[in-house]
Amino acid sequence: MILERNNFLNVKQIEQQLKQSQQKSRIDDFKALVKIFQLCHSGANEIGTKLENLDDEYSMNYDHNPIHHMEERMKSIGSLIGKLDRKGLDLTIENVRNHIYDIAGIRVITNYIDDIYRIEEALIDQSDVTLIRRKDYIKNPKPSGYRSLHIVVSIPVFQSTGVEDVPVEVQIRTIGMDMWASLEHKLRYKTNVDPKKVKEHTGNLQKYATELYDIESRMQEIFKDLQ
Ligand code: GTP
Ligand code: MG
Repeated sequence: MILERNNFLNVKQIEQQLKQSQQKSRIDDFKALVKIFQLCHSGANEIGTKLENLDDEYSMNYDHNPIHHMEERMKSIGSLIGKLDRKGLDLTIENVRNHIYDIAGIRVITNYIDDIYRIEEALIDQSDVTLIRRKDYIKNPKPSGYRSLHIVVSIPVFQSTGVEDVPVEVQIRTIGMDMWASLEHKLRYKTNVDPKKVKEHTGNLQKYATELYDIESRMQEIFKDLQ
């Protein structure tokens, strides 16, 4: 299993993106924003390591890797501002702290559906991990057909100056669900496609999401039978 650890936004990049955003004046304390990004990045590293260790343990004890691979990403300033805008909030340190939980995100791609809940349980059972938010789009898929388990956990990050709890968003889904989400995302953001075609593809994708879930469930049964 591989964890792609993406490069952390550096101070210069954050400053540049803030300048481009025209909302610069609303961020009174630039250093505080950088500090939040840095803390969240450390939080993602902590959670990433925990997930790697869990996968190692399963592989050692049960000869099965629940995790296929993982991706770690930091939110860009542009999408941070976009999200605050949608919530009707200004870009202030207070609003970032109180309303944005996905500055650091880890996407966990599992081999089977059961692995999603196995990973979730083993992670939130750890005494230093606290579950803050949970959306199960597998039990309750989005109208588009989107399936995934989204959780936000809080983790203490130890620094030279003390300890702080930070949120990390973890999206957990199977290879099939991930493949579907990538294609649907492409369709959603393609602007030069004939609307009639978009409608047709959207309908088909809704259907395929259910079919993929069905196939992944049946493949899981075969896997269980062979264990
Ligand atoms: P945002 O993060 O601002 O979108 O709001 P939120 O955190 O309230 O939303 P949510 O928990 O539903 O997760 C949003 C993320 O899930 C998006 O950024 C996408 O990555 C993914 N997502 C949600 N719905 C869909 C969908 O219908 N299709 C695809 N491809 N991805 C989706
Ligand atoms: Mg989100």
